[in-house]
Amino acid sequence: MIGVTQPEPAWWTTSVVYQVYPRSFADSDGDGIGDLRGITSRLDYLHRLGIDVLWLSPIYPSPQDDNGYDISDYQGVDPLFGTLADLDELIAQAHARGIKVVMDLVVNHTSDEHPWFVESRSSTDNPRRDWYWWRPARPGTVPGEPGSEPTNWGSFFSGPAWEYDEASGEYFLHLFSRKQPDLNWENPEVRKTVHRMMRWWLDRGVDGFRMDVINMISKELPLRDGVVSPGAVHGDGGPFYLCGPRIHEFLAEMHAEVVAGHESTLLTVGEMPGVTVEQARMFTDPARHEVDMVFQFEHVSLDQGDGKWDLRPLELTALKHSLGRWQEGLAESGWNSLYWNNHDQPRAVSRFGDDGEHRVRSAKLLGTVLHLHRGTPYVYQGEELGMVNAPFAAIEDFRDIESVNHYRHAVELGAQPAEVLDALRTMGRDNARTPMQWDASTHAGFTSGTPWIAVNPDHVEVNAEAAVADPDSVFHHYRRLIELRRTVPAVAHGDFTMLLPDDPVVYAFTRRLDDVELLTVANFSGEPVRPGLPDWQEWLGTELLLGNVAGSSGPELAAWEARVHRRTVAR
Ligand code: NOJ
Repeated sequence: MIGVTQPEPAWWTTSVVYQVYPRSFADSDGDGIGDLRGITSRLDYLHRLGIDVLWLSPIYPSPQDDNGYDISDYQGVDPLFGTLADLDELIAQAHARGIKVVMDLVVNHTSDEHPWFVESRSSTDNPRRDWYWWRPARPGTVPGEPGSEPTNWGSFFSGPAWEYDEASGEYFLHLFSRKQPDLNWENPEVRKTVHRMMRWWLDRGVDGFRMDVINMISKELPLRDGVVSPGAVHGDGGPFYLCGPRIHEFLAEMHAEVVAGHESTLLTVGEMPGVTVEQARMFTDPARHEVDMVFQFEHVSLDQGDGKWDLRPLELTALKHSLGRWQEGLAESGWNSLYWNNHDQPRAVSRFGDDGEHRVRSAKLLGTVLHLHRGTPYVYQGEELGMVNAPFAAIEDFRDIESVNHYRHAVELGAQPAEVLDALRTMGRDNARTPMQWDASTHAGFTSGTPWIAVNPDHVEVNAEAAVADPDSVFHHYRRLIELRRTVPAVAHGDFTMLLPDDPVVYAFTRRLDDVELLTVANFSGEPVRPGLPDWQEWLGTELLLGNVAGSSGPELAAWEARVHRRTVAR
């Protein structure tokens, strides 16, 4: 394209983000809960892995009803995790290693113990009343009785999305737990206050924000009933709060007020359940100045039917179709976030791979497939070790409010406890939250005290110390993948073509930049397979950039084998 200057790709297009769930990462003071000093003490490990950005799940003061996603002070640090000085030190130490730090921004809701909410609930004419969603009971009903809620919406954590406040005779909205009241973003003071708080963090040296359920901040007015699907207890409020009418305006305003002028150094990523490709393209179109990238949920919903506890088998063709559509949809403008794991998802190896015989190989395969897509990869703590789901025996082993509430409600409604437990074991968020496995010692080197949730007993084998020492480990495979993104421009910037979309076990695609073409081919099964690629024979003669089966180069892929080939093609 003669005469046209392409804009420099943003720095995060060649970056890899590592997510730390502070509660479960490293405990420095023996109280059984991870903390900031613990994280700082492990920065060399992260540096060795080669990541560019550290995303910290919430460390703010919080009653910990939802493990910190219920914030009672946006400008402090919970004593559980340390002090602001500890955080400053963590940021300084991360920066010294070339690692940026991104904070979790949870502003769809606060804790009910946040002073704003305490004031808001204190009287109907308090100036902060309108900072939250207060509504009278449904007309013609008795306030406080079941069924009197202002709308029929269910909360994500079971039960209705409205809580009755006896003192004022009104209800407040909480899409999550009753201790997480939703902020009213229609109120300009709320927005201004959040912007000010964000600027305060930037001034303190943070490098961006991961924005919690940010596509829920704009609600469609008037608030009204959603459709009740057959067999459901509550109506679906989603259509009224997912990507609501003012969402683009609110994000553009936030960008203008907080991010503008700092784009070249910051990262913003919006967590957006239910977002479509078309909406994501708008949110991430650089010309619209909203967010850099979004987390979408399509590929982590394919093994679920009616809600997350309704387990369905995963079809590889559906996974390829979904991820391929996202690659295509954001090819010309916008940008993808790439993830298998985070603190809300079960462990990827147990979910998409084989957590038995082929644990190591399938963990490497999953990393390879994900990191070779176009977008910014996110690694969740322990993923680089191939950590797997936990062997929870009974409901008492779970800690997560979502799982505990679901169990109680489902059993109350007549479900079989064993079946509910089975769903929790497969899909529950606590799978991701068992402590990071540092070594083979008691409690995996996570704490010298009693861990807040049990350590996976497999830590005697699956742990960071062993992985770092073994050049053939999942850890070193991830290290190579991260390095590849930095050293082979086609990984970050090449275009993407999905191959063999209908093949039930082979995941194959190419990436192309100028005269370089990369082929990623992976066998998502425990049986050997010969990929049905028309030019497979030609690829076999090309450079093998990365693989997960030593010495393998023949036409058959072994169980859970993945390869990345490189060749030069005519421009
Ligand atoms: C999404 C977060 O990732 C999850 O952990 C949390 O429970 C909800 N948002 C509510 O903040």
